[in-house]
Amino acid sequence: MAGLAIAEVCASCVGRRAFVAADGTSGPVRTAGVAGILSRREARAGRTPRTAGGTRRHAEVVDMTEATLAEALEREHHEIDEGIEAFTADPSSEPARERLRSAIRALRRHIYLEEEFAFPPLREAGFVMPIIVMLREHGQIWTTCDALEQALADGAETATLLRLCRQLTAQLQHHNLKEEKVLYPQVDTTMTASAAADLRAFLDRGQLPEGWVCAKAGV
Ligand SMILES: [Fe+2]
Ligand SMILES: [Fe+2]
Repeated sequence: MAGLAIAEVCASCVGRRAFVAADGTSGPVRTAGVAGILSRREARAGRTPRTAGGTRRHAEVVDMTEATLAEALEREHHEIDEGIEAFTADPSSEPARERLRSAIRALRRHIYLEEEFAFPPLREAGFVMPIIVMLREHGQIWTTCDALEQALADGAETATLLRLCRQLTAQLQHHNLKEEKVLYPQVDTTMTASAAADLRAFLDRGQLPEGWVCAKAGV
C-alpha cells in the first residue's frame, strides 16, 4: 500500500508549506534544523538569513518551537534548495560557491539523519518499499554531491558546475516530493517519543559523523 502511494505522487502537485511562523512570533528554537543552525550562524555573524528569493528575513521570525518533525524535515529541503539556487543565480562569485559547498554539506547531513533516525522506525511500521526507493535515490544524490564537490575543488568551468546543479536539483525535486507526501506525514505519528526526541535533538544540533556515507553510495 505504501509502495503504491509513493509511485502515485506527481511532481506537478507539489506545494511548498511556509516554514516561517505567519504571525512572526518568536521564542526558543527547539527544532532548528539546517535553517536554524544557519540562522544562528548568520546571526552570530551579524547577518540576517536569506529567503528563497534572495532577500533577507529577520532571524527572530525563525521560530520552530511548535514545528512538527515533518515540518522541520521539509524545512531542511527548502534550505538546501536555497543554497543551490543561490549558486546558480550567481555562479561566478566565490560567496555563491561557498553557499553551494554549504548546501552540499547540509544535504549529506540531512541524508544521514533520515537514514539513521527517521527511516528505521518507518520501515518497522511497514513502509518498506518507500524506504528502499529513498535509499536508492540517496545513493544517486550522494554521487552527484561527490561530483559537484570534486568539480568545485578542481576549479571546474561554470558550465560544468551548472550542469551538475541541474542534475542535483532534478534528483532532489522528485525525491523530496515523495518524502514530503508519503513518508514525512508518518514521522510524527509513527515514531516513539524516545525516537522522536533523538531526531529532534539531531535536527537542532547534530553533526554528520566524519567519514559516514549513505547506505547505497556508489551502488
Ligand atoms: Fe531523503
Ligand atoms: Fe529529505
